[in-house]
Amino acid sequence: MLQNKLPSLLPKKFLWRLTLANSFIIIAFILISGWSIYEAACQIFDEMAMYQETKLFKTVLLQYLWIFVGIFIVLAIVIQYYFTRKLMKPLTELIESMKSLKQGHKVQNIQFQSDGEMEELIYHFNELVNQLECNKIQRHKQLTDFSHEFRTPLTNLNGYLKALQSGVITGDQELFHALQRESNRLISMLEQLKSIEELEYVQNQKFVQKQEVQITEIINQVVKMFTWTLKGKNIDFTSDIDEQSIQINPTGMTQVISNLIDNAIRYYDGIYPIQITGKRKDESYCISVSGQGQFISKNEQDFIFERFYRTESTNKTIGKGLGLAISKEIVEQHDGNIRIMSDGYNHTFIVTIPISSKKVKRIDASFLENLN
Ligand SMILES: Nc1ncnc2c1ncn2[C@@H]1O[C@H](COP(=O)(O)OP(=O)(O)O)[C@@H](O)[C@H]1O
Ligand SMILES: [Mg+2]
Repeated sequence: MLQNKLPSLLPKKFLWRLTLANSFIIIAFILISGWSIYEAACQIFDEMAMYQETKLFKTVLLQYLWIFVGIFIVLAIVIQYYFTRKLMKPLTELIESMKSLKQGHKVQNIQFQSDGEMEELIYHFNELVNQLECNKIQRHKQLTDFSHEFRTPLTNLNGYLKALQSGVITGDQELFHALQRESNRLISMLEQLKSIEELEYVQNQKFVQKQEVQITEIINQVVKMFTWTLKGKNIDFTSDIDEQSIQINPTGMTQVISNLIDNAIRYYDGIYPIQITGKRKDESYCISVSGQGQFISKNEQDFIFERFYRTESTNKTIGKGLGLAISKEIVEQHDGNIRIMSDGYNHTFIVTIPISSKKVKRIDASFLENLN
């Protein structure tokens, strides 16, 4: 009964609850120690003095005791309230920030100095706030970009159609080609939108359903798909794949390898063949796709796995900057990692995944260099 009623009797705020609990402990401690001192003093005086003096002594002592006990209790409560409030400050700020965040307001990072559990909580909260802010800015930028990009071809098409309708101009082959180019641009932009959806889909879909497959079969299947494109572009291709049975999600991994080969062909710029290798290293399997390609600067290499990132040299070609972001997502869902090694013109994309479902170690660079 009392157990059920107790929480409703306690104050609602955590600070006050903590103050109340501490105050009880302090009061009990002061009363017990005060009473012990009083009893001890009386005992000593009883043995030393006359009855009358003893009575007076006890009364005076008791009076002083109450006064001091009262002062100490008030002092102790005030001090401990001050310290508790100080300790609780970050938590109070965190609650206030969460409330504002929920209401859609912009939230500043909460400041903290030391490293405790509370600070760790605040650190993660700050990270979350920053990530949300980043997403918001990126989404806003995408929307602005898209509406701007859509407007131009639509305005062009509209203008030409109006001119044709009113007879200001007459249609010829060149004009129809220009109109078709504009409508193709619109279609490619719509495809871009579809890819964003695809990325969200990949992020939401967990490639948890893994099965034991022969990696050689997966890689060979993907390579076969690109045979005609390679022939058409006159690019040679070599492969060196170790047989290995491995636990993966075949659909996901097919997409990763396919994205890497597609990029190697799309951005190819050289004379040497594109190479694909598959090697076992301890408990991991490394798939690498190498080839000469358009320039990727050192700085750009840090960003190419990010959504919508495209290097300066490829900015003019059609692409969405999502293939590598999608691949990274899938590889990480396999507890693996993906990275690039490049001198600027010769690029090697390396995927490392654990053979069974355990986490993969980062493979050292010397081993990766030997792959080529
Ligand atoms: N093999 C490659 N050679 C040169 N540049 C590449 C290669 N692979 C990727 N890149 C660069 O990384 C960018 C991101 O690639 P990706 O995420 O597949 O998007 P997309 O191919 O749609 O642009 C590309 O735009 C290109 O600039
Ligand atoms: Mg690509």
